[in-house]
Amino acid sequence: MTDRTRSLVIDTDTGSDDAVALIMAFNHPDCTVRAVTVVAGNVPLESCVRNALITADLVGQQQVPVFVGLHKPLLRPLETAAGIHGDDGMSGAQLPDPSRQADRQHAVQALLDIADQEPGQHILVTLGPLSNIATALLIDPQLLTKFQHTYMMVGAADGIGNVNAVAEFNAWVDPEAAALVFAAPGAKTMIGWDVCRKNTVMRAEDETRILAAGPIGQFASDIRRQVREFSIELNGASDHEFPDPAAMAVALDESLIVESDYRHMLVSTDEQTRGLTFADYGLPAKAPTVRVITTLDEAGFKAQLFAALSGL
Ligand code: RIB
Ligand code: CA
Repeated sequence: MTDRTRSLVIDTDTGSDDAVALIMAFNHPDCTVRAVTVVAGNVPLESCVRNALITADLVGQQQVPVFVGLHKPLLRPLETAAGIHGDDGMSGAQLPDPSRQADRQHAVQALLDIADQEPGQHILVTLGPLSNIATALLIDPQLLTKFQHTYMMVGAADGIGNVNAVAEFNAWVDPEAAALVFAAPGAKTMIGWDVCRKNTVMRAEDETRILAAGPIGQFASDIRRQVREFSIELNGASDHEFPDPAAMAVALDESLIVESDYRHMLVSTDEQTRGLTFADYGLPAKAPTVRVITTLDEAGFKAQLFAALSGL
C-alpha cells in the first residue's frame, strides 16, 4: 500500500448501482477493499450477497472477504426496490454463478472486529440501509470513531425523496437504523439523493461511454437495463441518477466535493414522514453531526467512473 492508499470497508445492499460502486473501489489504483458487508435492501439478502460475490469475481477480487449481515431492518419488514433493479437486483442479466461462498462470520461481528483490531486504518462506505451499522453500534456505540471516516449514501438534504415525496430509499427502508447512525459519534459524510439528482445523472452520452469501456462497461450497462426502463416509464427518458457510485467517488476522492456544510441531522421514523432526513436548526443550537454534501463535481465524478469501468 502506498501512503495514498485508502483502505475501505463497504456495506452494501448490492443492487446494480452498488455493483458499479464496488467496481470503482476494486479498480481504483490507490484503494484496497478490506471487506464487504452485505445488508438486505434493493433485493432480499441472498441476492445482495450473490451480486457482491459476482462483482468481486468480475474484477478478480476473490480475496476480499464478503460477510452476510441483516436480512431485514431493525424493526420493520423488508421492503425492496426489486421494481427498479429487477428481482435479482441486476436487471436479470445473464451472470455467472459466484466462484465462492460468503465468509461464515456475521457481517456485524466482522464490522466490530475490524474496528476493534484495526482502529483508524479504514474508511467505512455505506451504500444501503444502515441496519448492519446500527446493529454494530448497539453493541459498540463508539464503532464509527474507529474508522477514519464514514461516507454514506443515505437521505436527502433537501427533503425530496425517491421512494415518496420525502424519503430516500436507504433511509426509508430502515429509518430507525439511519437515526442511530446519524446520532453516533464519529466523522460522517452524507451523500444524499439531492446531490445525486443534481450532479450524477447518467445521460445517453454517458451510457455510450460506459459501453465503450469494454467488458466491465458492458456489465455495468447490462445490470442497469431495468433502471433505464423504469426511468423511461417514470420520466419518459432513460436518464437516471447514480447514487452509490457518487458516494464511492467521494470516499475515493474528496476533491470532488464542491459544496458541503455541517448539520445536526435527524431521521423521521413516524409513518407519514418515515425516512425524511432533516437538519435540526432549533434552539438551543445542537452540535452538527454530519457533513452534508450539496454539490459534487459532475465531470470529475464521471471521469472517475469511466476510468474504473475501463480498468484504468
Ligand atoms: O436511494 C438510492 C439508494 O437506494 C441506492 O443505494 C440504491 O442502491 C438503493 O440502495
Ligand atoms: Ca445501494
